Amino acid sequence: MTSEEPFGFATEQIHGGVVPDAAFGARVPPIHMSSGFLFDDFDQARDRFAGTEDGYTYTRLGNPTNADVERRIALLEHGTEAILVSSGQAAAAVAFLGLVQAGDHIVSAQSIYEGTKGLLLQNLRRLGVEVDFVERSGDLAEWEARIRPNTKLLFGESIPNPKNDILDVAAVADLAHRHGVPLVVDNTLATPYLLRPLEHGADIVIHSASKFLSGHGVAIGGAVVDGGHFDWRAEPERWPHLHQPERALEGASYAERFGTGAAIVFARDVVAARLGPTPSPFNAFLIRQGIETLSLRVERHSRNAHAIAEWLARRPEVTSVDYAGLASNPYHALAERYLPRGAGSVFAFTLAGGEAAARRVMDAVRLFSRMTHLGDVRSLILHPASTTHAQRTPDERRAAGIDDGLIRLSVGLEDVADLIRDLDHAFNALSATGTADESGASLADGASDRAFATLTHAVSGARPIDEEI
Ligand SMILES: Cc1ncc(COP(=O)(O)O)c(C=O)c1O
Repeated sequence: MTSEEPFGFATEQIHGGVVPDAAFGARVPPIHMSSGFLFDDFDQARDRFAGTEDGYTYTRLGNPTNADVERRIALLEHGTEAILVSSGQAAAAVAFLGLVQAGDHIVSAQSIYEGTKGLLLQNLRRLGVEVDFVERSGDLAEWEARIRPNTKLLFGESIPNPKNDILDVAAVADLAHRHGVPLVVDNTLATPYLLRPLEHGADIVIHSASKFLSGHGVAIGGAVVDGGHFDWRAEPERWPHLHQPERALEGASYAERFGTGAAIVFARDVVAARLGPTPSPFNAFLIRQGIETLSLRVERHSRNAHAIAEWLARRPEVTSVDYAGLASNPYHALAERYLPRGAGSVFAFTLAGGEAAARRVMDAVRLFSRMTHLGDVRSLILHPASTTHAQRTPDERRAAGIDDGLIRLSVGLEDVADLIRDLDHAFNALSATGTADESGASLADGASDRAFATLTHAVSGARPIDEEI
């Protein structure tokens, strides 16, 4: 191995970004749970504030534990720099507000997380930023038709949920660059293990670190990662905030001082530092613990999801399975190109019986958790039409492919045979009309009930189900 040869993903996810603990030699870097940092003397305080000496001042502006995680995420995404923030929503807010101002315009794929859509429509619009949505993200002519002279960025998700309409990152990035603007990609569901959008031309990647990066489902966090290749100096009039003289930079502009790093430094120093979505170092530590097993988890998540998608596709009660890993899926060619390691684990399927059928299946599962979260080690199940997409009109839901019988899964790391057994049991509730109770749970399945009762009893100490009835 030559010294230039890159390390493998698994090595980087464990060792990347760590600064050894000089004080005590702790193998796992400690959690620097401190709001502020001591200055040795008068001069050091002045120099740290002036930025002429490296070092920490105050955790909102920087913290060694948070910085460890930033370096690791930047490394894994093959970016130049990352900002760790307190949620995925904060990551989107920081990324967008680092680029746009009143009078600007954003073009986004329609198929994005509802919270991000709300941020664009309810928050940024109030600040004078317009947004247009592209109905079919695969239609480059539609993207191009929506770009205006004041457009400042294009936005999409690498694996959108719940429909898995995979973004053609390279094609949209190419289009963005022809119009002089960056492409921002939410890579939450792919993670850098499955896809590195920056390698396909995207300029900025954002994450909800609450999902697969953590995996354990106990911490909320987010990240903004810069690819370091967009030239903010090419059209100074497009980015006035990066080209104005700054007192903090001794009269230089962000573009002059930081070049291709101008936008991420501005996002860190001006947007994140002032809005203040700093994560607790404790949460940063939890996110780092998660990242150390990312490749193993995502590989197994994808394998389990693929097996479940195939099982669902064979079921007569199911009219469609939106899993891009299936050869029959319209986005399979894009999945093969962008996601050769696996198509992820979040997808939807649609039951012929509409909402009534979805209710029965949702209420009958015992291993899947009814929860609005993704990327957890536990398998999760949700009915988008009555929850995440309830604010949309029926027409909007129909246009987005969110049928009343659509169910979203985030497939976890349990034994896949047990997950299929759970779904099979829930599907039995659809046909066993005579033997189903109010909630749709089959009363005929006593042995299986007892097995699940034993599991939850053993795990949680809760009373077995049959004692409760
Ligand atoms: C794709 C995607 N991006 C961003 C977010 C927002 O992340 P957070 O909940 O960490 O704010 C979510 C949340 O579900 C998401 O699914």
